[in-house]
Amino acid sequence: MCDVDERHQHAVDAAIAGGEGLRTVVVGKGGVGKSTITALLARILARRGAQVLAVDADEQRNLAATLGLAAAAAAIVPLAEQADYVEEKTGARPGEGSGGILRLNPDVSDVVERLGVPAPDGVRLLVMGTVRRAGSGCLCPEHSLLAATVGGMSLRRGEVVLMDTHAGVEHFGRALARGFDRALVVVDPTFNAMHVGVEAARLSIDLGIHDVRLLVNRVRGPDDLCRALDNISRAGDFAFHSLHALPYDELAMASEPAVDELLRGSDLAGAVGALAAELVPAATTPILQAVR
Ligand SMILES: Nc1ncnc2c1ncn2[C@@H]1O[C@H](COP(=O)(O)OP(=O)(O)O)[C@@H](O)[C@H]1O
Ligand SMILES: [Mg+2]
Repeated sequence: MCDVDERHQHAVDAAIAGGEGLRTVVVGKGGVGKSTITALLARILARRGAQVLAVDADEQRNLAATLGLAAAAAAIVPLAEQADYVEEKTGARPGEGSGGILRLNPDVSDVVERLGVPAPDGVRLLVMGTVRRAGSGCLCPEHSLLAATVGGMSLRRGEVVLMDTHAGVEHFGRALARGFDRALVVVDPTFNAMHVGVEAARLSIDLGIHDVRLLVNRVRGPDDLCRALDNISRAGDFAFHSLHALPYDELAMASEPAVDELLRGSDLAGAVGALAAELVPAATTPILQAVR
């Protein structure tokens, strides 16, 4: 354990237990900016001294490229397809189903060390991959492994975990976000994005995630923000814990997929930097570093 004075001990305990909301799932409609914001948050928090684990739970797997790993991204074998690891941990290989005995709570405390990919600024990336299910309720080994990985990781490591997800709300069906402390619901100012956002927010509550925040991305001015806020009630209403506006930034499109150019200086990275300070209080990051 690290040498921190008593004053900060509660923060350390809370960080390790995830009580500071350090396990964060990013949800929303396709194309609203989830991966861009996840990558920016991950790299900004890492630059500020936090130990950051970025988890790609989108089957399109573009978080690696967004984090700035374009060349290496194609070579990353996702967790669900790491056949030897899945078998070692669960007793069955991916796709084998549960004919034999399947360990439902595998010990995955080594997963980040063994399968985490180093990304820029010291971020670690874990790519989850796709669970191919034959119908609902499948007890397949890869799902068992992914659920155990996501559910338990931060409790042991005291990290900031940011999980990027695919469009819509299907991952909630798989309950992969169970055990997370916070959901960031990303929308753009449109009704359709807010409709998905409100649904995702409600499902977050159903999963026991009570800190649900709204990020309105691609805001070009006050009218856009007002439109987005009006759409909350049109989409069925939800009392978000907080609301944050992120500006439309030409550079995002011009420099995609990687966020490197944005991080060199942009309105969007500036706004995400301010958001990062709110999400992870400054006092917590050096403490996290000390706990390592
Ligand atoms: N604030 C923004 N301003 C302008 N373009 C943005 C902004 N945020 C994201 N984008 C762009 O929108 C596209 C979709 O973003 P992405 O992060 O891939 O969305 P998602 O992960 O939700 O599908 C990308 O080309 C990205 O560069
Ligand atoms: Mg994405």
